[in-house]
Amino acid sequence: MKRARLPIVVVGGGVAGLATALAAAPAPVRLLCRAHDGSGSASAMAQGGIAAALDPRDSPAAHAADTLLAGAHHNDVAMAQWLTREAPGAIAWLQAQGVLFDRDADGRLQLGREGGHAAARIVHAGGDASGAALVHALRAKAQAAAHVQWRGGVDVDALLVRDGGVVGVRTRDERGRQEHIEAAAVVLATGGIGALFARTSNPPGADGAGLALGLAGGASPRDLEFVQFHPTALDVAGHCLPLITEALRGAGARLLDVDGRPLMAGMHPLGDLAPRDVVARRVAQAQGEGGQVWLDATGVAGDWERRFPTVLAACRAQGFDPRLAPIPVTTAAHFHMGGLATDADGRTGMPGLHAVGEVACNGIHGANRLASNSLLEGVLCGRRLGRVLAAAEPRPGRRGEYRWIERGDSLSLPQLTALGDLLWRTAGPVREASSLRDAWRTCAAAADAGWQARLAKALLRAALLRKHSLGAHCRHDRCCAA
Ligand code: SIN
Repeated sequence: MKRARLPIVVVGGGVAGLATALAAAPAPVRLLCRAHDGSGSASAMAQGGIAAALDPRDSPAAHAADTLLAGAHHNDVAMAQWLTREAPGAIAWLQAQGVLFDRDADGRLQLGREGGHAAARIVHAGGDASGAALVHALRAKAQAAAHVQWRGGVDVDALLVRDGGVVGVRTRDERGRQEHIEAAAVVLATGGIGALFARTSNPPGADGAGLALGLAGGASPRDLEFVQFHPTALDVAGHCLPLITEALRGAGARLLDVDGRPLMAGMHPLGDLAPRDVVARRVAQAQGEGGQVWLDATGVAGDWERRFPTVLAACRAQGFDPRLAPIPVTTAAHFHMGGLATDADGRTGMPGLHAVGEVACNGIHGANRLASNSLLEGVLCGRRLGRVLAAAEPRPGRRGEYRWIERGDSLSLPQLTALGDLLWRTAGPVREASSLRDAWRTCAAAADAGWQARLAKALLRAALLRKHSLGAHCRHDRCCAA
């Protein structure tokens, strides 16, 4: 009797996971998400949009040059060139999936500016609700696709290994019930690590669980020290803070210091639209000197309800109206450039285990991601990986013993809060050796208590080993710009 084809297991319902699942057709896919409805991904919260050289005066080469400059030339050049070359095609594909991008009065796609871009090349959908629009459209496609079987409400907490390769996963639902799934291939599309930090623009689920599982499973880390801090999250109490999109600065909003003076004056030729690491360090410096930083968006004209509905709603919920008065802002952990080392097709070094999107590191972003290149990466790398997996020959029959590799126990809530504070203080926008070393020791001592401590330890080690400032990794004891 012919054995049914094993599914490709995709873990994560953000843009990268959805794009992978869709492109893998007709191969069967099991798409596993923590939330029942697939919500809760950082993709769905992305405000910035998607960068693509669509203006006739712009070019993929110019987009690539900005990507490399923001990445401090630590990028994989061929990957950055591929990403920017393919970007216009990604926009066309998304439109074919039903994403309605914002248009001007003449019906042309509206192109916005964001930090680090020398040209207006960001397309948005639903104003600052771009990520939600993408996830909504791709999720509808995936839920309707015959080859995709959707399963929400589960966490993947172990990998099944045989003959030196990953051949399945173990899931656990909220009631602790386990399921074992054998897989033709496993794809981690689990997002970033912002929620490990005390202050983040990410959702609580961006806790590095997939990265920790992949590392436990034998995949190699790459560039873990490169964490991007966004300069403008709303400065209110809490852990997961509302993002205040950079597109507002693209539309004319200005950062002000505690005395109402322009914060970025004389700091960088691009001023408020300097690359994100430069602006974040300046904000962190001003905060370190005890001053509140403000974003003055009162001069941003136009229809806020249409262009910035997410920012407006988040501010109103906290009692602010950004149209009428400056709002308080802070830096917040936003994006992980590092992750599981992969090749261009998403292969980790562990046979059968793949990674895509923020959990992966293929070198596209270098030491600091350019604004609005992350949804783009999720779409393009996801589609590339899905196609590769669909075309893959079934792996030869397996003979060795099965073995489970578990992520392991989680830290308790108070331990997680302490870890978040520690990372925030020591591995934030500005770092130095002695506090990184102390933090590493603390995490090493807690390593048996939970996987988050082991992950933080790996990040801190990478930050210690990278002795000089580069991109988002700024070593205050070794010099860093702005
Ligand atoms: C933003 O809207 O400011 C964030 C966009 C991004 O992370 O690229």
